[in-house]
Amino acid sequence: MKSLIACYSHSGKTLTVAEKLQKEINADFTRIEPVKDRWYLIKAIHAYLEKKWPIKPCTTDIDDYDCLIVCCPIWAGRTTPGVIQYLDELVNTSGKKFAVLVTMGGDGNQLATIQIRNGLEAKEMEFIDKLIIGGSAQKSGEWETMTKEFAQKLINEN
Ligand SMILES: Cc1cc2nc3c(=O)[nH]c(=O)nc-3n(C[C@H](O)[C@H](O)[C@H](O)COP(=O)(O)O)c2cc1C
Repeated sequence: MKSLIACYSHSGKTLTVAEKLQKEINADFTRIEPVKDRWYLIKAIHAYLEKKWPIKPCTTDIDDYDCLIVCCPIWAGRTTPGVIQYLDELVNTSGKKFAVLVTMGGDGNQLATIQIRNGLEAKEMEFIDKLIIGGSAQKSGEWETMTKEFAQKLINEN
């Protein structure tokens, strides 16, 4: 199964996890980056309102891939405006599989995995699995085992 990891990361935590996953499953990698950064409060408000931000060019045509793994941090319990824009820009999605990986500072509830799932199912993609790495798993180092197990599930999908 040929996979693409699409990763949004502001302060590097999601990037660290996504790069570990990349090594485990031997996927291609693309960074989702906003054209411009905003203040913390604007980030949180825009995420909460499910706004879209323009993003820099990245891989949005997934015709060559069997599976897409969207990775992002949680902002205000949601995904980031850059990821919402990315989901919008994706093409050749029909019949492709996808998984979602999120990191967050706390360990509470979040809506990002549902937002991304809804967005990609609307593009006729098939959900495989999700991984949520909260603050305690990041601090304890448990995220590494969690990422390995997640990678194995993705490999077994082949
Ligand atoms: C604007 C903003 C809002 C955030 N909101 C939440 C939140 O609602 N819940 C939470 O657990 N963490 C929240 N966080 C923390 C991040 O989700 C967490 O630090 C994440 O691992 C950062 O990933 P990154 O380093 O890849 O950007 C927020 C961070 C930012 C910058």
